[in-house]
Amino acid sequence: MKQRRPVFALDYIEETIDLYSLAVSSLKHAGTSNNEVSWAHDVLVQYFDACSRSVLSAPARKRFEELPRPLASREIEALSKTARVPYVAAERETASVSFDAFFDLAKRRRSVRWFQDKPVEPEKLDKIIDAARLSPSACNRLPYHFLAITDGPRAQACARLAGGTGEFASQIPALVVVLGDLSCYSEERDRHLIYIDASLASMSLMLAAETVGLSTCPINWSDVPFREKAMYKFLQDVPEYWRPIMLIAVGYADDSGAIPFSSKKDMSIIRSHGNASL
Ligand SMILES: Cc1cc2nc3c(=O)[nH]c(=O)nc-3n(C[C@H](O)[C@H](O)[C@H](O)COP(=O)(O)O)c2cc1C
Repeated sequence: MKQRRPVFALDYIEETIDLYSLAVSSLKHAGTSNNEVSWAHDVLVQYFDACSRSVLSAPARKRFEELPRPLASREIEALSKTARVPYVAAERETASVSFDAFFDLAKRRRSVRWFQDKPVEPEKLDKIIDAARLSPSACNRLPYHFLAITDGPRAQACARLAGGTGEFASQIPALVVVLGDLSCYSEERDRHLIYIDASLASMSLMLAAETVGLSTCPINWSDVPFREKAMYKFLQDVPEYWRPIMLIAVGYADDSGAIPFSSKKDMSIIRSHGNASL
């Protein structure tokens, strides 16, 4: 594999093994999924193979080898060993989506606020959330949770907690509450990452929704104390390091419902080449 130094990460391998060891011993605790620990295991096996010439990594390697091997889900275990560690770019799965098809999808997605009185299947929501979790996130921490509410009245009650739903709250058949986990990033300077990561995943979710016949409308979550209080009451025992990021209304579009025409800024305004022309 190109671009790999013969010995690397020596200054933090001990700390990595400390954390890995903690993860292995707390596998049953919330927030530590077997898949992640199993992934860490496979990467560390490859790391120690790659650095086998380094005497310095030997104590860390010994500690690592003494720990029990974590098992992942069947889905992950079924993948070959080489599919779970770094691989070369040429081995990536090909995507059959052309630019034109993608552009059509981007044009098709519009914020829909009028829905049919038809429930949304939880399996469909699972499918689009599954696509969303493939989105990039800082350090691959996926610092978010999608709470899917398919009970209409409950979805509507939650949507009303946000300011900007007005009339259309009563139309919403399903709602996704996007929550960000501040505990994923220990440094205060990184507190914005939950918003970036959750938004990237939410965009994938909204595009994926269109491919299964669903429509969506993102709903702003304002940082207003009385709304926050009401939301935490709604969420019951969710600790407050879980921050509401946004809500997403989901449903089958009412074909006769109006969709506002939302003109987008011109390309010449939103992009420049070389130097920013702002
Ligand atoms: C972060 C965010 C918050 C939004 N909040 C609301 C909202 O509270 N109520 C609403 O009706 N639409 C909301 N929208 C939808 C926007 O109004 C909509 O995306 C915008 O007008 C562009 O229209 P389009 O989504 O059809 O392209 C929100 C969109 C985003 C991205």
